[in-house]
Amino acid sequence: MSIFRDDILAGKTALITGGGTGICKGIALRFAAHGANVAITSRKQQNLDTAADEIGFATNKKILAIAADVRKPEEVENVVAKTVETFGGIDILVSGAAGNFPVPISQLSYNGFRTVVDIDLQGTFNVSKACFPHLLAAAEKHRNANVICISATLQYTGIPFQSHVSAAKAGIDAFMRTMATEWGPMGIRANCVAPGPIGDTEGMRRLAPTPELTERAMKHVPLKRFGTIEEIADACLFLVSDAARYTTGTIHVVDGGQWLFSPGVGGFEL
Ligand SMILES: NC(=O)c1ccc[n+]([C@@H]2O[C@H](COP(=O)([O-])OP(=O)(O)OC[C@H]3O[C@@H](n4cnc5c(N)ncnc54)[C@H](OP(=O)(O)O)[C@@H]3O)[C@@H](O)[C@H]2O)c1
Repeated sequence: MSIFRDDILAGKTALITGGGTGICKGIALRFAAHGANVAITSRKQQNLDTAADEIGFATNKKILAIAADVRKPEEVENVVAKTVETFGGIDILVSGAAGNFPVPISQLSYNGFRTVVDIDLQGTFNVSKACFPHLLAAAEKHRNANVICISATLQYTGIPFQSHVSAAKAGIDAFMRTMATEWGPMGIRANCVAPGPIGDTEGMRRLAPTPELTERAMKHVPLKRFGTIEEIADACLFLVSDAARYTTGTIHVVDGGQWLFSPGVGGFEL
């Protein structure tokens, strides 16, 4: 169920990185269900094909699924070119491709740190840059061109074992703010959506892999539950819609209040 009219993205085209699984697949489904042409990309063609079939079946839209590694500019440019060739342009970019594995700094390899920063941060730069001419063309036709970067909240504090992701996501927040100021005068908006703990995702399977850890994590969320993929997709739908046409340079936190809470020195529980 959606509170948005089902044709609010009719005629628009969205490219979504990481769109074959998890949160970004949910965003792809939400956008297609509201009329958008959707292209999804990530490394594994099989995941993309399965997701495209599923979304296509649910929405009666043809979903373009093209494999690319966001770390490789030539592969990213190929996806962008094929999306434009198929749908005639790009109005919306969602940059969500990311890597994560919890590990303390002392055990994190040089390559492991670089890999996460390359996928999350460099990958966000690569797709944003490759999409820019098409977003600009869309903006010049007053088509509400915009970018959403999928960030996180763990970089606001000092969460152990997440140094690589925290550094990458902090970089994404900073990059998005610059993008919003540089591209705003051209009519292109840029925002981040920062999910908190979202149930039924690879991210949470890695960070809270047992029922005990899940239960403990939920105790620290003021709204007392994990979020859903649909709740992140709805936040994205709002940001890309005309309802948000004066909203740029923001970080839209969707985390049930999780990052704000600290048990403090008294060990307070919610
Ligand atoms: N789950 C949460 O609770 C949570 C919380 C905060 C933020 N987030 C953010 O939300 C986004 C989605 O997370 P998720 O939990 O749904 O995880 P996920 O299903 O693992 O999504 C990550 C996606 O990135 C793709 N990817 C990884 N490396 C890539 C590369 N080099 N090039 C292209 N694509 C690549 C993966 O596909 P391939 O393997 O096919 O490449 C996968 O589809 C991420 O940005 C994550 O940081 C999630």
